[in-house]
Amino acid sequence: MKRYTMIGCALVTAALVLTQVPAVLADAAAGKVVYDGVGACASCHGATGKGDGAAAAALNPKPRDFSAGDFALDTDGDGQPGSDTDLFNVIKNGAAKYGGAATMPGRADISDADIKAMVAYIRSLKN
Ligand code: HEC
Repeated sequence: MKRYTMIGCALVTAALVLTQVPAVLADAAAGKVVYDGVGACASCHGATGKGDGAAAAALNPKPRDFSAGDFALDTDGDGQPGSDTDLFNVIKNGAAKYGGAATMPGRADISDADIKAMVAYIRSLKN
């Protein structure tokens, strides 16, 4: 009986993994389209997210390097910068609202779903 329970758990876990992973990949791919396109994020953060876009040289502080995966702003006061919620809020409302630089613009014009997809894409850029 116990063994069947364990096999059942393993199957449920496998099913969850199999259904979650493609969803994340699909989000990241959709996020790249927004990041490169209407988001114009690459102009500052660079085409591969290294913080080396065309406008980056003139900026201080520099646009975040997403390949490092280090984030600074804690938007929900939980003491942990860089959660999905934090990245979402910074992209939607801009960094200045959370004590960061005004040169990181808020993009409330982009849909929440597209911002979430960009968060997934940004996560995928970490080396
Ligand atoms: C005009 C240049 C510019 C553009 C365009 C820009 N950013 Fe930024 N971004 C910055 C700068 C500068 C920072 C660093 C802000 C700071 O340190 O206070 C930053 C920081 C960030 C961070 C890190 C927040 C943290 O907690 O560390 C994220 C995530 C981010 N940008 C996402 C985006 C996305 C997604 C887009 C496109 C929708 C975008 N940015 C467009 C300049 C830009």
